[in-house]
Amino acid sequence: SLVDKANYRHFMAKEIHEQPEVVGHTLARYVDMATERIALPVKLPFDFKDIQRISIVACGTASYAGYVGKYWIERFGRLPVELDVASEFRYREAPLRKGDLAIFISQSGETADTLAALRYAKAEGVHTLSVVNVATSTIARESETVLQTLAGPEIGVASTKAFTCQLMVLAAIAVAAGKARGELSDADENRLVKGLVEIPRLMAAALSTEPQIEKLAREIAKHKDVVYLGRGTSYPLALEGALKLKEISYIHAEGYAAGELKHGPIALIDENMPVVVIAPHDKVFEKTVSNMQEVAARGGNIILMTDARGAAEATVDSLVTIVLPDMASAFTPMVYAVPVQLLAYHTAVVMGTDVDQPRNLAKSVTVE
Ligand code: G6P
Repeated sequence: SLVDKANYRHFMAKEIHEQPEVVGHTLARYVDMATERIALPVKLPFDFKDIQRISIVACGTASYAGYVGKYWIERFGRLPVELDVASEFRYREAPLRKGDLAIFISQSGETADTLAALRYAKAEGVHTLSVVNVATSTIARESETVLQTLAGPEIGVASTKAFTCQLMVLAAIAVAAGKARGELSDADENRLVKGLVEIPRLMAAALSTEPQIEKLAREIAKHKDVVYLGRGTSYPLALEGALKLKEISYIHAEGYAAGELKHGPIALIDENMPVVVIAPHDKVFEKTVSNMQEVAARGGNIILMTDARGAAEATVDSLVTIVLPDMASAFTPMVYAVPVQLLAYHTAVVMGTDVDQPRNLAKSVTVE
């Protein structure tokens, strides 16, 4: 067949490992390496200066990419972004301002709810931009502007490489918005683009955590519930980590904003509960450390995903610390996605589930 598993046991494993390459292809489409500037492949039919609010709409993993995109666009573009899952957006009749922008994110470009949301937005007179992997899809055809992810065919039902490619496109959109709105200088743009250019190499380095994660998966597979915590852009990644784990291993998992721990999930913590903490050494690191201390005080088993600096400064006993490469940019989710995906994958392998075709799930949900 056109797409095979090469030497991998599952498509999902192959697709996780392809990420440095396909994220690199996507990067090359959106960035001019020579000038270190964002260079979108199409001319946008609007100016980010005229946009007052962006609505991002998607389902599943694509919605978590959108959640990260919201944080980036708000930070770099100082532009308010609303994020909705498509099934809510389409029926809630969200008020949209003519001339504003709605962004639709979809790997397949065929998800029924996302397509219906796109049609609603068009009828309301907003600009529509889709981030899709399948260029010939219905969502691509019906959108005013299409920014394609170059992930290549994704076969595993649980999305992996499409997700990180979506993040790359959203990062480019966020920097472009910041530039157009005068929130970022040329020097800021160069610095951010330099950060993006580093991503494929950092993702490749993140893949080297696999033997450690394989071992950890044998431990996780003994549990019935897992909590994932993160702050800032690591929060949507915590949601994605929990989604991945439940989708393919059938172990119940919940993702939470680390600051919300005390408002509920802390009641679940005892010496049996694994807690995956996604915490690069960023602006909110100290805050996440204090949440980890709350978990540790209740005997929870902390699995810390951080960088060398974070590992040195986290004053908490963790069961396992996964050390990711140090990075200077705000684009950590693309790198931390790798261990998050590997943990779900290897846990599912230990559980013996059908990793590429998990029960009850479909690759593309074309019905309501
Ligand atoms: C299904 C898939 C998910 C995917 C979601 C959205 O639930 O199993 O992996 O994230 O649909 O699909 P889309 O093609 O719109 O990104």
